[in-house]
Amino acid sequence: MDRRPLGRSELVIEPLVLGGNVFGWTVDEKQGFDILDAYVDAGFTAIDTAEGYPNWVPGNPPGMSETIIGKWLKARGNRDKVHIFTKVNSANKRGGLKAEAVSKGIEASLQRLQTDYVDLYFSHWPDPEAEHEETLGAYDPLVRSGRVRVIGASNYTAEMVKAANETAVIKSLPRYEVLQPRFNLYDRAEFEALHEVVTSEEIGTVVYYSLASGFLTGKYRSKADFGKSPRGGGIERYLDSKGERILAALDQVAKANDATPAEVSLAWLVAQPGVSAPIASATSVEQVQSLAKGVRLKLSDEDLRLLTDAGK
Ligand SMILES: NC(=O)c1ccc[n+]([C@@H]2O[C@H](COP(=O)([O-])OP(=O)(O)OC[C@H]3O[C@@H](n4cnc5c(N)ncnc54)[C@H](OP(=O)(O)O)[C@@H]3O)[C@@H](O)[C@H]2O)c1
Repeated sequence: MDRRPLGRSELVIEPLVLGGNVFGWTVDEKQGFDILDAYVDAGFTAIDTAEGYPNWVPGNPPGMSETIIGKWLKARGNRDKVHIFTKVNSANKRGGLKAEAVSKGIEASLQRLQTDYVDLYFSHWPDPEAEHEETLGAYDPLVRSGRVRVIGASNYTAEMVKAANETAVIKSLPRYEVLQPRFNLYDRAEFEALHEVVTSEEIGTVVYYSLASGFLTGKYRSKADFGKSPRGGGIERYLDSKGERILAALDQVAKANDATPAEVSLAWLVAQPGVSAPIASATSVEQVQSLAKGVRLKLSDEDLRLLTDAGK
């Protein structure tokens, strides 16, 4: 499997990041440990979480996903063998990327993760109240002291990334080496709009909702299927003619490659120019094994074209 550098940074990973938003939501601590073990056993290292995962579940303490991952890191004693990605300003708050919020955010995340550094720290959502100079200026001492190795930005437009990275050059501050936009066979616009900046500035991308929250696994074909997961209700927006075309193409390519639609969806993402790695979550060990198979699957140019055309 080809390992991939993330931007111009020192980070190099296999092309699959494990999504952590399910820990404390659709997955409890015990299942979480099994999933994390299966993921590293399959040869991968990068785990994506956030201070806000999954704070939308009533009664959850803040940052439960980080807490579960932190307990697992401690129990396994494997901190130096994995890459931990986390994020600040998960609540998409005005002021959430101001200097004080960043310095408080990282300390709380490090405490929950039971570690003294994170490999990649993302601005989770843009903050219209914080100037890039203030946010990057808050990251600067964290990078210099080694508490954060590399910084990234999620849900930023191309204009925001360009402006932030220009500020980084002018003020000698760290630049965003990695972006985390939404991208999958169905949802393409956000990533496509970033393509030029990602290529010209050599920025890495780890893309989220790789399976469109489960839709691209093919298990939801009508509203009657929504009960298959606690998150099934979020799938409704994909049940249209474009979604049907994509599922038909996935079924065809999956059959020809002795694979599942989920695996084909990931294989397509891994083959897209500008994608460093897809992020996907799992709720069972079997799903992790399927994600691993998917990112290792090589599709023919003809299969890739069929899938690309189905979602246009
Ligand atoms: N930066 C951001 O703003 C942002 C936003 C959202 C997500 N993210 C990141 O991206 C990660 C992935 O997002 P996501 O988990 O929401 O969506 P996803 O990866 O598109 O969907 C994953 C879900 O699909 C189901 N699934 C996975 N493999 C399967 C298989 N082989 N067969 C059948 N079902 C399967 C599982 O749910 P069920 O078993 O419950 O069906 C799993 O939780 C998150 O964990 C998070 O780290 C980032």
